[in-house]
Amino acid sequence: MDKIRIVDKEFRLLVSSAKIRESVIRMADQMNKDLHGRNVIFLGILNGAFMFVSDLIRRIEFECQISFLKLATYEGSSSSGSIKRLIGLDEDISDKTVVILEDIIDTGFTIDSILKQLKGYGPGDIKIAALLFKPGSFDRYSKPHYIGIEIPDNFVAGYGLDYKGYGRNLKDIYAMTDD
Ligand code: IMP
Ligand code: MG
Repeated sequence: MDKIRIVDKEFRLLVSSAKIRESVIRMADQMNKDLHGRNVIFLGILNGAFMFVSDLIRRIEFECQISFLKLATYEGSSSSGSIKRLIGLDEDISDKTVVILEDIIDTGFTIDSILKQLKGYGPGDIKIAALLFKPGSFDRYSKPHYIGIEIPDNFVAGYGLDYKGYGRNLKDIYAMTDD
């Protein structure tokens, strides 16, 4: 299906499941080359990255740890703006190679905030992997080490990403047509 409706908006097919699969395999192959022999912990950012993590991790051939983090809005604080607190880090990441697995990087604000918070736990090295990357809007921060697919600056849903909480189950990625 090329056109679908999610909640109250129309979306069109942007990235097919075949293309997603190809990109995920390419990213995993690169990681297998680069990170083999290191003490690696993959940290998936919930909720959006769950499908990406589960597909990518099956292709990783070296011994590694996998965990998930979530971003929570600070409670009762209006002054913190959109800064979000990282929750759920149970594992010791000190001196390890941390690979952050994100569904999408848009402005880079979220990943920047995650980086700042993770650095406080004393990791050896931090790599960023983003399945989707919107280069048009990425102005303030450095580029991820691993990028799956560069997409235009449209709002997207599917393959873990949501629109108003829906669409995460779709196997392809769709772009909003009228955003
Ligand atoms: P950034 O802080 O602007 O880089 O946005 C990153 C976060 O916003 C991602 O982790 C997503 O959760 C969410 N996000 C950004 N763009 C989209 C989109 O097109 N669809 C769904 N979620 C998005
Ligand atoms: Mg996200």
